[in-house]
Amino acid sequence: MADNQEWGASFASASTTAMGFYDEIMVPRMFEPWAELLLNQIELRGGQAVLDVACGPGTVTRHAALRVGPTGRVTGCDLSPAMLDLARSKISSGHSAPIEYLECSADSLQVPDEAFDVVTCQQGLQFFPDRPTALADMRRALRFGGQLGIAVWSAIEDCPPFAALANALEKVLGAETADAYEAGPWGFSDSDSLARLVKDSGFTNVKVRSCELPLIFEGGPGQLLLTLRTTSVATIVAQLPEADQLALAAAVAEAARPITFDGFVRSHATSHILTAQVGDERG
Ligand SMILES: C[S@@+](CC[C@H](N)C(=O)[O-])C[C@H]1O[C@@H](n2cnc3c(N)ncnc32)[C@H](O)[C@@H]1O
Repeated sequence: MADNQEWGASFASASTTAMGFYDEIMVPRMFEPWAELLLNQIELRGGQAVLDVACGPGTVTRHAALRVGPTGRVTGCDLSPAMLDLARSKISSGHSAPIEYLECSADSLQVPDEAFDVVTCQQGLQFFPDRPTALADMRRALRFGGQLGIAVWSAIEDCPPFAALANALEKVLGAETADAYEAGPWGFSDSDSLARLVKDSGFTNVKVRSCELPLIFEGGPGQLLLTLRTTSVATIVAQLPEADQLALAAAVAEAARPITFDGFVRSHATSHILTAQVGDERG
């Protein structure tokens, strides 16, 4: 199985506890601010219908529901039952659109044709085993004139806390484990390939911007280390003997030293934000 597919499979079979770490540590520090940034690139209006593909715990989904308001309609879909449990457990504001969550794979979306004004996919595309089919399905779900917004991380070196984790994994567990870790979230980081894939899927007005946002782990390298519990290498790490666990913690602290200040990891992450449309090329 390719490393990115292994990550996809690890999400599908993940426990609610493991995804709880994702929700507690990653969502407020990373995915919430990135969701706002992604939606700021799209002209969402009150009353619109939005589909959020690979919605996870409903990060972009809930922000979109607030933006389109009670007259809008939002659907979030994901293949992970644990992620969907988390998403469904969150209470939406009374000023939000109703949200429906569906369990389905991105290359087999259980939604009608041409039913949405906007499709979003934040940090999901890189995990899909069949990206062209997933994009064709997103296009099928959009009305003529509908908008697509996709976020995919840039190279791991542009996300220094995670480059530090990969460095520490390589030191303690070897290059194969470090490569498997990197090949998931950062495994589709070339912006030209991303733009080409979306154009080849029949979208128009394809634009890709590289954006950077601050990323702070106030719990320091120890908190950064905890993020491994939500990854495809979680089991390997959990099964390490105590001495190796300590060695890994020390290697993370060492690799993160250049971005650790007064006990906080203070750095940034960089992502490609792609927008595109279904319809005629604008002049
Ligand atoms: C890094 S999380 C991002 C979640 C969410 N978009 C967010 O911003 O918080 C990646 C998500 O992609 C989902 N995923 C991975 N492969 C998938 C597939 N083939 N079809 C649908 N969802 C998938 C995972 O279950 C996970 O929820």
